[in-house]
Amino acid sequence: MLGVTLTLAGLFSVVVAQVPGFEGCPDVETISTFDVENYMGKWYEQYRYFMIIEAGGKCATANYTLNNDGTIKMVNALVNSLLGFPSQIEGSARIVDPKDPGKLAVKFPISPFESSYWILDTDYDSYAAVWSCQSLLVANTQLAWIKTREQNPSQDVIDKAMDAFKRNGLNVDHLLKTDQINC
Ligand SMILES: *[C@@H]1O[C@H](CO)[C@@H](O)[C@H](O)[C@H]1NC(C)=O
Repeated sequence: MLGVTLTLAGLFSVVVAQVPGFEGCPDVETISTFDVENYMGKWYEQYRYFMIIEAGGKCATANYTLNNDGTIKMVNALVNSLLGFPSQIEGSARIVDPKDPGKLAVKFPISPFESSYWILDTDYDSYAAVWSCQSLLVANTQLAWIKTREQNPSQDVIDKAMDAFKRNGLNVDHLLKTDQINC
């Protein structure tokens, strides 16, 4: 239980630090059309920027399902690397402006704020490149994830997602591999 408490506290501090707003965030190109239904289902996290909430976590997955009101239910799960216990957190996402359907806002009950969830690229059945930026007073916080449909995809699939970051001038050296082998 201690581990769970620490994880939730970590999430809270990360999210509180992410005061909504995009000033100071780099301009990126997101997908121009979004087939929400094809994006639903299970995704395996392969890479991410460092996040307190996910530090020490492995086997991270996300399962997305459509709610009746058109929002997306997001269930993020991971396994603590040291102690092996699983944890999950449920949130919801919405498309903020239908003219910009790749830019979602996500909210987890633990936080009073929404944070951004921008889909840079996806082919729906192998990879997704997702990025988030929130501006702070003098800087911004950026988060990034590469998600795949297969737990252990080919390098080719990873490269397609990496390209989406590179095309937008975003740093891929900061992407850390998520352990999906010892699950
Ligand atoms: C994803 O979530 C839905 C709804 O909560 C559930 O029915 C489904 O079994 C889940 N899928 C996986 C792969 O966990």
